[in-house]
Amino acid sequence: MSAHETPVLRGLRTENLAGLSGRVLEVGAGTGTNFAYYPDTVRQVVALEPETQLAPKAREAAATAPVPVTVVESTIETMPAEEAAEPFDAVVCSLVLCSVDNPEDVLRQLNSLLKPGGELRYFEHVASSGWRGQLQRVADATVWPRISGNCHTHRDTERAIGGAGFVVDAARHQWTFPAWVPLPVSEVAVGRAVKAG
Ligand SMILES: C[S@@+](CC[C@H](N)C(=O)[O-])C[C@H]1O[C@@H](n2cnc3c(N)ncnc32)[C@H](O)[C@@H]1O
Repeated sequence: MSAHETPVLRGLRTENLAGLSGRVLEVGAGTGTNFAYYPDTVRQVVALEPETQLAPKAREAAATAPVPVTVVESTIETMPAEEAAEPFDAVVCSLVLCSVDNPEDVLRQLNSLLKPGGELRYFEHVASSGWRGQLQRVADATVWPRISGNCHTHRDTERAIGGAGFVVDAARHQWTFPAWVPLPVSEVAVGRAVKAG
């Protein structure tokens, strides 16, 4: 699947996963597009994917991944207790915090699953300002969540990350399409946040 993505998206995925090591939880893996980009310093990826049509595709991607990946057919909210028994070195969220019902609760849960000093890596589209922000509000109140798997385009995801016990220590925004293209999901944030305290 990743072969069909633009170089910009592939670059953002690579950037989001660079330098990870140890045991990693990926939330909402989809078809497993990220798997090819994990560095070989990662010991194990536990990848959650609740959609019954996507999880088998993720398992196919796991079979050729450069690191061991276990795909678990589950939401983050219903993650099996045995997967959470050992704390994680890092959690990866990639285009998923827009789709969960309650991002604040999910982020607090992710924080609790990390070792002390563990990190959240995120690559998420985010709320924009100006006319694009208005477009996002209209999209969220009308058809967008219904046609795109509960995706909400105007979420202030980085504020939610900060409110869930993380300290953002490196982050940047990028346009994935030219800024004039009237798509509500063009502005993305890629960043690293560390479990506080
Ligand atoms: C837009 S896709 C992104 C897939 C992949 N992370 C990527 O970067 O290409 C969002 C994925 O999150 C999954 N998802 C939605 N809600 C979820 C939840 N509560 N827990 C775990 N995964 C969820 C969906 O099934 C979907 O596969």
